[in-house]
Amino acid sequence: MKVVVIQGPNLNLLGVREPHIYGQMTLEAIHEQMKVFGAGNGVELEFFQSNLEGEIVDRIQECMEGVDGIIINPAAYTHTSIAIRDAIAAVGIPAIETHISNTARREEFRHTSMVASVCTGTIAGFGPFSYHLALVALIQIMSEIKAFQQAQAQQQAAQQ
Ligand code: DQA
Repeated sequence: MKVVVIQGPNLNLLGVREPHIYGQMTLEAIHEQMKVFGAGNGVELEFFQSNLEGEIVDRIQECMEGVDGIIINPAAYTHTSIAIRDAIAAVGIPAIETHISNTARREEFRHTSMVASVCTGTIAGFGPFSYHLALVALIQIMSEIKAFQQAQAQQQAAQQ
């Protein structure tokens, strides 16, 4: 199974950026932990970070080819980007919206998510551990989809 992790603007600064909110782990360290957990669970992970909305849209679109799941932290674009929302809806792949901080406990403008309604679910507020939880959730969802598809294929074969 293949999962792409997409990171939005300013997340390249994790570790130095407002550590009282986002913690002290760097993005590389978070990705390294995910990679180890993924490898132990039969999941190949690919990572992408961009500060540019259009590049994030392009990367989501590329997931149409051979990707089983997306973990996305659109960062500030969460609250503004219809383009990212539409791209997630277009590819039709299970996507987990992920945030380090609990956006519901922060400023009012962070309470709106443009992407929540097109994602399978949202994980927020667990610090860098949110990414691990998102990966656990996605592995569960992907295996449920796989089991459903296998059962359907067996049923079709039995009917022929
Ligand atoms: C964030 C929350 C957003 O509101 C903010 O703009 C970010 C990070 C988070 O992971 O907590 O850049 O997505």
